[in-house]
Amino acid sequence: MDVMVIKEGTIVTPYSMYQADVKVVDGVITAIAKDIEPEGTVIDAKGKLVLPGAVDVHTHLELPFNGTTSADDYYDGTVAAAFGGTTTVFNYLNQIKGESLHDRYLRDKQSAEKKACIDYAFHFGITNWNETTKQEMKEAVNDGVTSFKVYTTYREDNMMMDEAGLCEILAYGKEENLLICVHAENNPLLEYRRKKYAEEGHTSPWYHYLSRDEMVEAQADKTIVYFAEKMNAPVYIVHLANAEGYEEVKKAKEKGIPVLAETCPQYLEFTSDVYKREDAEKFVCSPPMKGEESRLALREGVKHGVIDVMATDHCPFTLEQKALGKDDFRKIPNGCMGVENRYPYMLSMAVNGELSYSDVVRMCCYHPAKYFGCETKGSIEPGKDADLVIFNPEGEITVTADNMHTKAEYTIWEGVTTSGQIEKTIARGKIITDGGTFLGHAGDGRYLKRKKSSIFKEGLK
Ligand code: URP
Ligand code: ZN
Repeated sequence: MDVMVIKEGTIVTPYSMYQADVKVVDGVITAIAKDIEPEGTVIDAKGKLVLPGAVDVHTHLELPFNGTTSADDYYDGTVAAAFGGTTTVFNYLNQIKGESLHDRYLRDKQSAEKKACIDYAFHFGITNWNETTKQEMKEAVNDGVTSFKVYTTYREDNMMMDEAGLCEILAYGKEENLLICVHAENNPLLEYRRKKYAEEGHTSPWYHYLSRDEMVEAQADKTIVYFAEKMNAPVYIVHLANAEGYEEVKKAKEKGIPVLAETCPQYLEFTSDVYKREDAEKFVCSPPMKGEESRLALREGVKHGVIDVMATDHCPFTLEQKALGKDDFRKIPNGCMGVENRYPYMLSMAVNGELSYSDVVRMCCYHPAKYFGCETKGSIEPGKDADLVIFNPEGEITVTADNMHTKAEYTIWEGVTTSGQIEKTIARGKIITDGGTFLGHAGDGRYLKRKKSSIFKEGLK
């Protein structure tokens, strides 16, 4: 029997905080109580917070995209996640023409089984919608995949779903209780602008922002919310990044429309000003960071519970890969890193009094696990996996490429200082990071078969 006891920490739940000891047997939490007898591995957590390991429901590890492949594989990405207190990642697997969803799943599972250091689940990106896909989506549930993403953009990458397809998928998701996630940007408008700017000789990353500005995202958000309302079909908007779309989501929630919203820390920290920097290509992602009004709106959404989930959209590319677009912003691979930064960034907001620790746990752990049907993760409760973080609210850390673990070898978070420090990350009862030391192993991560989202049973709360 493998036993761990964590003594005298302050446990953070999605709605409260209290002091107690935690006992773990064979990777599962078995007791939370005062004065548990020390046994096995004993961790003194006096003065520290004991938090759930975070769940990142939006990563792109080993993603073939924009003519290349994202730089972090299942090993690099999960090592980085572990150092950032994340103990579960949900990776997006995009459908590939000529390959069944089941085969796509088997291919990534084989890779992740060898390399992942923490537990993982998959969503499918649906890029080719027809009767067969419908059947395959139903069968995906047997493989434990119960959520599906559609892109309203990336036509040139053969990833886009048109509005007819989107509506059919929303209807199908509702019928089968499958959560449909949407990447929302107006493709005709952004394609028109990309072409126009390029023809005019405007090739710098600033034009990446201008071609996909506030209006491009807001229009698509409004369409999605409208479809969700009229069809009464649940929808999860990924990486919301603009003020007008945020207002739309807020109003929709007030009216009881079944819309869930995710954002990512880069949209709380940076504005479109990054696209004027010398190293602007590092920040090229879609949707791009917007103006200050959007940054502030999203921060408000995080504070007032309008944003349900904080994810990362972790999709790093090396500088060499980014340089594919040195003469044309349209060729810069889209994506940024963040899996190591999200939980520390959000916990820093709690240390600084902008959020409560429970707010952070809800957005980074509890909601992601609950909304995506992952019952063993997301909170500290007897019977759940012992995925835990020991967090010291004292001190601070300044991010540099040297102390990060992405294979991209730079970080958009360079120079950002966060308050507090993750001292240990524990995955199913094993310490996998201790300060700067990695103690995990490739292949230790397990595949998580998920149930259907709780929102179909319980509604949005
Ligand atoms: O720029 C991004 N976000 N790249 C990853 C693919 C996506 O859009 O989610
Ligand atoms: Zn996306």
